[in-house]
Amino acid sequence: MLDKYLNKIIRGDCLEILKKVPDNSVDMTFADPPFNLKKKYNGYKDSLEFREYLEWCDKWISEMVRVTKPTGSIFVHNIPKWLSFYVKILNEHASFKHWIAWNAPTSPMGKSLQPAHYGILFYVKEPKKTKIYEIRMPHDRERKSMYLRKDYGGKKAGLHPFGPLVSDVWTDLHRIKHNKYRDEHPCQLPVPLLERLILMTTDEGDVVLDPFIGTGTTAVAAKKLGRKYIGIDLDQEYKQISESNLNKVSSDSNIGGKWVSFYLGEIRTLRNEDWDALSKHFEIPKNPKDIDFIKIKVSKNSSKK
Ligand SMILES: C[S@@+](CC[C@H](N)C(=O)[O-])C[C@H]1O[C@@H](n2cnc3c(N)ncnc32)[C@H](O)[C@@H]1O
Repeated sequence: MLDKYLNKIIRGDCLEILKKVPDNSVDMTFADPPFNLKKKYNGYKDSLEFREYLEWCDKWISEMVRVTKPTGSIFVHNIPKWLSFYVKILNEHASFKHWIAWNAPTSPMGKSLQPAHYGILFYVKEPKKTKIYEIRMPHDRERKSMYLRKDYGGKKAGLHPFGPLVSDVWTDLHRIKHNKYRDEHPCQLPVPLLERLILMTTDEGDVVLDPFIGTGTTAVAAKKLGRKYIGIDLDQEYKQISESNLNKVSSDSNIGGKWVSFYLGEIRTLRNEDWDALSKHFEIPKNPKDIDFIKIKVSKNSSKK
């Protein structure tokens, strides 16, 4: 039943398509719905009444939980205002794991605090069975000198050579600003954001489903990491953009058999448990104190799959 949707972008209303997906069949679900902020989508009016919007969200969130496996995870991305309502819906159906704050500065809004983050709610279906891995991000370095930006109070020698474990505040992954990297869509997410979630909660061959696929970001991240995907969108043009982006996926995210989030020439996320195997493919300074001076990078002769 699920097979016919695997590795496909399906044009349609997610509520209709989700009904056809069996219970407990998908390893990870991720949703980035329209925010009801009057954004200019092709085929969708982004301005429902307050209650109407929340009732609609209730339906697809419940469906996301239903199709997720007991080992699986559910992620929903939105502005904090809507997430504060989603929490109530999700708490009825699943277990809270984290509220991830994703740093994304916006323009001033008048008499309010400056909005500077989006949230990603991270829920799990059955906490004792959840599949979850520790992940690491690179150290924050000066762009040219590669010096670490923090001095760590003279304790640099004790740092992990690659970088720290990822917390629930993400300031290192940025929204796509440059037109060169964007498609014709009002709210395209960056691929490394989805790769981080996928590396944290799925294994090679697992199935990732996104009911609002837009330009295909979740599917592209899943394909890059050797996972299967199911993407749904109302709009035919977005389906085509997604398929074209999927066709461009290259296989540079596997280093010596380990999957990493590799984007614009840099590793953005890797699994902690993969570090020993991956470290062979890095140029690591012999003296740990020299962590400032040498860029850790995949050495030229490392074998990529
Ligand atoms: C916020 S965008 C998703 C952007 C996506 N994360 C990306 O990185 O490109 C929301 C998408 O949901 C689609 N959409 C709106 N209502 C839908 C529905 N009922 N079923 C499926 N897709 C829908 C819109 O066409 C739009 O592409």
